[in-house]
Order: sequence, then C-alpha cells, then structure tokens
Amino acid sequence: MTIARTSIFCLALAGLATAAVAANHSDKAAMAAVEARKAQMKLIAYHTGILGAIAKGETEYDSETARNAAMNLHAAAGLARGTMWIEGTEQGAVGDSRAKAEIWSDPDGFAEKFTALETASGEMIDAAAADLDSLRAGMGSVGQACKSCHDTYRGPEN
Ligand code: HEC
Repeated sequence: MTIARTSIFCLALAGLATAAVAANHSDKAAMAAVEARKAQMKLIAYHTGILGAIAKGETEYDSETARNAAMNLHAAAGLARGTMWIEGTEQGAVGDSRAKAEIWSDPDGFAEKFTALETASGEMIDAAAADLDSLRAGMGSVGQACKSCHDTYRGPEN
C-alpha cells in the first residue's frame, strides 16, 4: 500500500513537472513569435520611414535608395505569416503583444489588410525608382494601408 501510494505520488509529480516544462516551452515559443512579428513590423516601419523622409524632402531623393527601400518594404510585407501570427498570442495572452484577437476570428479581413500593403508597396517599387513626384504620389496608399490595419487589428498601448 505504502509503495503503491508512493509510486502514485511520484507519477503525479512527474506529470506536474512535464506539464510545467510544456507550459514554459509554449510560453517561450509564443513570446518568440510575438518578437518575430514585431521585427517584421520594424522592418516595415524602417523602410517606410526612409521613403517618408524622402517624400518630405528631409532626405535627398536618390532613385536607387528609394527603390531599395520600396523593395524591402514589399518583401517584409509579403513574409509568410503562419510562423509569426499564431493563434493564442493576442494582446493580454502573451507578453507585450498588441495583436487583437480579431486577427484570428476574422482571418480574411486581416489578410486583406496585408494584401493592401503588399499592393501599395509593390506599386511603390517602380514609383520610387522613377522620380520624386511618383514616390510622393505612392506614399498615401502605403500610409493608408498601415493605418487601416492598425485601426482594426492593433490594440491600445500596453
Ligand atoms: C495587416 C495589418 C498591418 C499592417 C498592414 C501594418 N501593421 Fe504594423 N502592426 C500590426 C499589428 C497587429 C501590430 C501589433 C503586433 C503585436 O504587438 O503583436 C503592429 C505593430 C506595429 C509596430 C510596433 C512594432 C513593435 O516593435 O512593437 C510598428 C512600428 C508598425 N506596426 C508599423 C507599421 C507600418 C509603418 C505599417 C505600414 C507601412 C504597418 N505597420 C502596417 C498590423 C499591421
């Protein structure tokens, strides 16, 4: 009896330890996913900033630089989302995530917003390479793509 009780106790302990390790591991994985998509957003913001500074005349227009910025913006916008925008990582559930739960309850709407940025940044590649006026003309739809998604799918500051 004592032996049986002891082994049941040991089994229960082992089970608890396994559960704790598993939770810890998935927390880490969830936090890493949040960090990765923030890095995606940082790449997006960095290259939009380069284009914005040129558009405002803060930086001198250079066709090659402008084209590179647009190409990287477009590439960052087009990253496959499955590894970073994973379910269960919404605001409140993981670290300092500001992703709204609607991203996962309305995946088509969210995908549309990303498509809008992919389209705007894709058009920006040629526009930015052409001349300053074309670059300026393309900025509106890039900025609108950010705002429209943030308004719907990004939560308030933590
Ligand atoms: C399809 C939706 C979508 C589009 C388009 C989008 N964003 Fe975001 N962005 C988000 C969401 C959601 C977050 C919050 C992510 C999180 O906290 O997990 C975010 C976060 C950010 C952050 C904060 C990153 C950090 O380190 O916390 C910046 C900066 C940012 N976006 C800039 C931009 C800019 C600039 C554009 C447009 C050129 C843009 N975003 C387009 C959805 C979008």
